[in-house]
Amino acid sequence: MNAPLPRKKNLRGDAAWVIFQILENGKSSRDCLAKVQQRHSSKDSAWLQEMTMGTMRQLPQLQIWLRHLLDKPLKGNKKILEHLMMLGFYQLAFSRVSPHAAVAETVNAAPALGGDSLKGLVNAVLRNFQRQEMHTQLSDDPIVKSGLPKWLYQALSKQYGDNADGLRAQANAIAPLWLRINARKISRQAYSDMLTEAGVEHSLSGDHPQAIIVQSRTDVVSLPGFTDGLFAVQDGAAQLAAYYLGAQDGDRILDCCAAPGGKTGHIIETTTHLQSIIALDSDGKRLTRVKENMRRLGHTATIVEGDAAKPADWWDGKHFDRILLDAPCSATGVIRRHPDIRWLRKKSDIDALIDLQASILDALWPLVKPSGTLLYATCSVLQVENSEQMRRFLARYEDASLQPLTATDTMEMPGRQILPGEQQMDGFYYCRLLKSSN
Ligand SMILES: C[S@@+](CC[C@H](N)C(=O)[O-])C[C@H]1O[C@@H](n2cnc3c(N)ncnc32)[C@H](O)[C@@H]1O
Repeated sequence: MNAPLPRKKNLRGDAAWVIFQILENGKSSRDCLAKVQQRHSSKDSAWLQEMTMGTMRQLPQLQIWLRHLLDKPLKGNKKILEHLMMLGFYQLAFSRVSPHAAVAETVNAAPALGGDSLKGLVNAVLRNFQRQEMHTQLSDDPIVKSGLPKWLYQALSKQYGDNADGLRAQANAIAPLWLRINARKISRQAYSDMLTEAGVEHSLSGDHPQAIIVQSRTDVVSLPGFTDGLFAVQDGAAQLAAYYLGAQDGDRILDCCAAPGGKTGHIIETTTHLQSIIALDSDGKRLTRVKENMRRLGHTATIVEGDAAKPADWWDGKHFDRILLDAPCSATGVIRRHPDIRWLRKKSDIDALIDLQASILDALWPLVKPSGTLLYATCSVLQVENSEQMRRFLARYEDASLQPLTATDTMEMPGRQILPGEQQMDGFYYCRLLKSSN
């Protein structure tokens, strides 16, 4: 459904446009939120983030209220006003916005969305919400309470049984801010001292040699040393990739599906002199972010645009000592960080993703040197993309064996599954494959 960015900036109108773009047009919040945030102050940008992502977390409940209060669904380009109404409900039921402002400002946003004639309807629906004290009428349905789509709720129940509740609760938790200190420029302790001096509350993560977790709510760009590349923002689970890959000086490395380059930078920081490192991604726009990140951190990588499943298009024929494949996946491990993912991913996407992962694995395996390794990574919590994918791979290739990452990493259950919230990390999966020497 075509909906151009509203011409006139309006905080609530812009928030409704973001929600509409995600839910009706399948756009990621990363793209459409940034577009509207550009035209607002940093305080209002934070508000936009909080309200739109809050709406994503509470969507099933908001939809129930909408169906209860709106007699007939709106059609065509008026549909955006339904999203404005749900934003109104969210403010009234789940935020600290004063009820008066929530109603008045939400109603006033209708004309910015082309809904001049429907201002009265928005007003009536929000006033009815207040009159009927809808915020006290919350559904008992566990699926609605989870804030997840039914297919994902069920997939987690099937796989995790009794532990699924904790996992589902994590999907609505607020993710901590993790930094990775750029070891090529500064030690973690020296950077921690800079944060202390700047009054930024933080802690060091015992298991991650370069990690700092920031407790203060802050804009990363304003942290000391951002422009000088003293740190990168990277979750603790993602920071394990470079350690598990274990690159050595002199290695030839392929970082596959690399954009925006978080792991590329870290691999460089864990070594002093690689022979080469290629950051490959199929998305040219995202590769410009790899370039920017490498420049800011002071690193050098060879950036290549190409399809990982078609090495014939970009490979020079020289084998790699190590390949990191951070595969395209359901991203079900990072829903707390990107609450819109739960609505963007459909059940039908999963099978296509499993096939894509398998075809990339098949295409990359011949590029690994004898005795070389391939580290398979996803930010998924679904076994079908992780341990089951690896079991099938190990069955297909006689020259592949498991190089265990933990004591429980076995042929029956290969790899390490990290669940969201575990040691404050995102949900992630790693499995290290070793190629035989002949
Ligand atoms: C999870 S993100 C990678 C994050 C990155 N490794 C990091 O640490 O910053 C997945 C990436 O896979 C890329 N991608 C998806 N399909 C691909 C393909 N067939 N070939 C190459 N890259 C692909 C996407 O463009 C996206 O940038």
